[in-house]
Amino acid sequence: MTDWPVQLGSEQERVLITGASRGLGRELAGRYAARGAHVLAGVRDTNLGDRLEGVDYFKLDVTDGNSIENLNRVFEGVAIDVVVNNAAVRGDDGGLDTLDGEEFLEVMRVNALSALLVTRALLPALRSGRRKVVANISSRSGSMVEGTIDDDDGDYAYRCSKAALNMVTCKLAHDLKANGITVISLHPGWIKTDMGGIHAEVPAFESATGLMKILDDIELSETGSFKAYDGSTVAW
Ligand SMILES: NC(=O)c1ccc[n+]([C@@H]2O[C@H](COP(=O)([O-])OP(=O)(O)OC[C@H]3O[C@@H](n4cnc5c(N)ncnc54)[C@H](OP(=O)(O)O)[C@@H]3O)[C@@H](O)[C@H]2O)c1
Repeated sequence: MTDWPVQLGSEQERVLITGASRGLGRELAGRYAARGAHVLAGVRDTNLGDRLEGVDYFKLDVTDGNSIENLNRVFEGVAIDVVVNNAAVRGDDGGLDTLDGEEFLEVMRVNALSALLVTRALLPALRSGRRKVVANISSRSGSMVEGTIDDDDGDYAYRCSKAALNMVTCKLAHDLKANGITVISLHPGWIKTDMGGIHAEVPAFESATGLMKILDDIELSETGSFKAYDGSTVAW
């Protein structure tokens, strides 16, 4: 665990990732650390058994508004190049019959609202960063155009939350362009993680490789776009 607040001065690339305890967030944290980046990994439980080398873990439950507001203070004076809003839950997937309103709102809070609040809290850090990139890990399942083409599940809350997250991307991209901050939505593919399940197709390392390439190459002129891990564009 790093001594907080993190001290300034490093010329290293600095990347902050939410939901980094497992799955894609953990994969990204490990990959960025391996290439020499300073990784700030937000996790709900900092007593992780299996910590990654070179990764600085900090406690962040993205449903905790006070913790999110506090990010502003914790990272005061710290330059962050890339913020990856990755934390998410799937929620009930039973369709109309089992849909529960309160759980729906909880999924919206974790998957959509948190990205907005985390990004707002980290604006001073992002403005000081060199890359100034915000990546919202979304899903093709939240696309109005492509979401139901080959996927017939009961994920009302999850899909609605990712659609809302996509509007967070569009709105922030519009508002933050003048600050030189690029905001994009990313579809990571159907990944082999706890959320993706045993039938998933894309190994986490392959998804992370593709996403990192996009984040390395993205320019301000592409702010407000929605891309898949293979570099293709996803229709909103
Ligand atoms: N897997 C797929 O096929 C797929 C497809 C499309 C999009 N995505 C998106 O890709 C991203 C990563 O998914 P994944 O497959 O890696 O999921 P995952 O394996 O289920 O991991 C989810 C991560 O989010 C964290 N998290 C959940 N609620 C949180 C909260 N309230 N505060 C902080 N962290 C929280 C979890 O932490 P804990 O360990 O504490 O629970 C965990 O680290 C998500 O945005 C997901 O929606 C995934």
